Amino acid sequence: MKQKLFLITFLSIIAISGTIDLDNLFNYANQPIPVYIQKDNTPVDNPITDMGATLGRVLFYDKQLSVNGTVSCASCHHQEFGFSDTAIASIGVNGTTGRHAMRLVNARFAIEGTAFWNERAATFEAQATLPIQDHAEMGFSGQNDDPGFDSLIHRMENLEYYPRLFGLVYGDSMITEERMQKAIAQFVRSIQSFDAKYDTGAAMVPNPNMPFPNFSQQENMGKMLFTAPPVLDANGVRIGGGAGCAGCHQPPEFDIDPIAGNNGIIGSLGGGVDLTNTRAPSLRDLVNPQGQPNGPYMHTGVFTNLMQVVNHYDSLLPSSMNPMLDNRLRPMGNLQNLQLTQQEKNNLVAFLHTLTGHNIYTDEKWADPFVGDSLVLLPELNNTAIQDLPEVGPITLYPNPATDFISIEIPNLATKNVKEMRVFNIQGQVMYQGGIRNQLDVSHYPAGYYFLTVGNQSVKFIKR
Ligand code: HEC
Ligand code: HEC
Repeated sequence: MKQKLFLITFLSIIAISGTIDLDNLFNYANQPIPVYIQKDNTPVDNPITDMGATLGRVLFYDKQLSVNGTVSCASCHHQEFGFSDTAIASIGVNGTTGRHAMRLVNARFAIEGTAFWNERAATFEAQATLPIQDHAEMGFSGQNDDPGFDSLIHRMENLEYYPRLFGLVYGDSMITEERMQKAIAQFVRSIQSFDAKYDTGAAMVPNPNMPFPNFSQQENMGKMLFTAPPVLDANGVRIGGGAGCAGCHQPPEFDIDPIAGNNGIIGSLGGGVDLTNTRAPSLRDLVNPQGQPNGPYMHTGVFTNLMQVVNHYDSLLPSSMNPMLDNRLRPMGNLQNLQLTQQEKNNLVAFLHTLTGHNIYTDEKWADPFVGDSLVLLPELNNTAIQDLPEVGPITLYPNPATDFISIEIPNLATKNVKEMRVFNIQGQVMYQGGIRNQLDVSHYPAGYYFLTVGNQSVKFIKR
């Protein structure tokens, strides 16, 4: 009785200092989605589950996924900046990125399921392990002097938490690249932002093209400008209508039109010209709730504020002309010239600010679960440090890995008042609970990792 009470206090002390509570997972799988949101690129073979996205969260924040243990996905995709970076180029283990880091907000709610500015990853699953294998970003490229992906998997097998987490998600503790991709993609797709002023308004009207009752006049005029296509004269100069943004950034998801060409931003951070970029992340959360940019805009990070973005589209510079430029930006063969007034530009920027939510910046389900370099999974399976439990051991198990039975040796057990032995599988389910044995039949256990605990001691063994 005394033991149990102590255990509960001990665990609740841990819980406040940043842990993953496997008995109380966050809701990733059934988050509320507004009725007007229809697009969804979740593949049938990788739906979001609470446990899968939880593993994805750990992978996303784990610096051990980089060669020298200094860089995680979150080093470049910061929650506080809409999962983007304020730097133009982000710093990896061996240098900087060739493009600006993209926000990871509402990536799931898009027609297009491809990833990267130039869409070179066909799915978010395919994308998920590419940064790990990139020499500059996380460094497991397997080329030149870089270690390969195998050595990362080997490293992960020896980290306490991964065998257990993979076991919980996939039924056995095997770590593979495909399993990592699926879990990371679930986490990325789970990052959703639908508590913006825009969403409050969209829920109030039967049709999002109507003025929103909660918007200022300026915001409603900006919405109209964003949505309506321009009316042009014979030379392609705008004489009325809107700015045509919605043709490519499609409301209410604000995802990119899959057939968009480039938008005239054709520079490259490495120097020279790059015409390949035809994708933008959702235009939601371009700025944070305080109205500050979540980092510079475009693949080159060339614009530091939204007025500069609007000025770019208002009159495309001659240097933007290129064979891959989207035809919508060169009406009648001329570079787009919207002739927006300063008032209209202000209206557009005011509207873009209404696309910012609040919850994604602080919700713990998308936050760093690590405390320093360590991760605490509750319930604890090997609570070797719990002082008040009777001190035994050290326990020796053999053979390990085992096939039919394990032999258990605990020195000086007779002098301790310990009567109980327990075996858990990786999911934390009790496989054995009873008197202390010196041999245990494990022939009927499925292959995987198990934990045997006696008193304050716990040992891991593998069943082959
Ligand atoms: C060193 C910085 C860096 C690290 C580390 C990094 N990223 Fe990125 N991420 C970027 C940059 C830069 C881009 C845009 C690259 C491009 O388009 O060429 C990007 C793009 C993406 C995209 C595409 C988004 C879209 O809408 O198309 C996803 C998804 C993503 N990263 C997820 C991850 C995950 C998951 C990890 C960890 C496994 C990770 N990133 C690690 C910098 C980084
Ligand atoms: C012809 C398609 C097209 C039209 C029309 C268009 N855009 Fe874009 N937009 C893009 C593409 C493609 C990108 C990605 C550009 C890049 O970085 O290479 C982009 C990028 C952006 C970005 C930067 C996103 C980020 O995460 O950095 C903003 C903001 C933006 N557009 C706003 C607008 C506004 C406002 C309008 C209307 C005035 C507009 N766009 C019209 C295609 C378009």
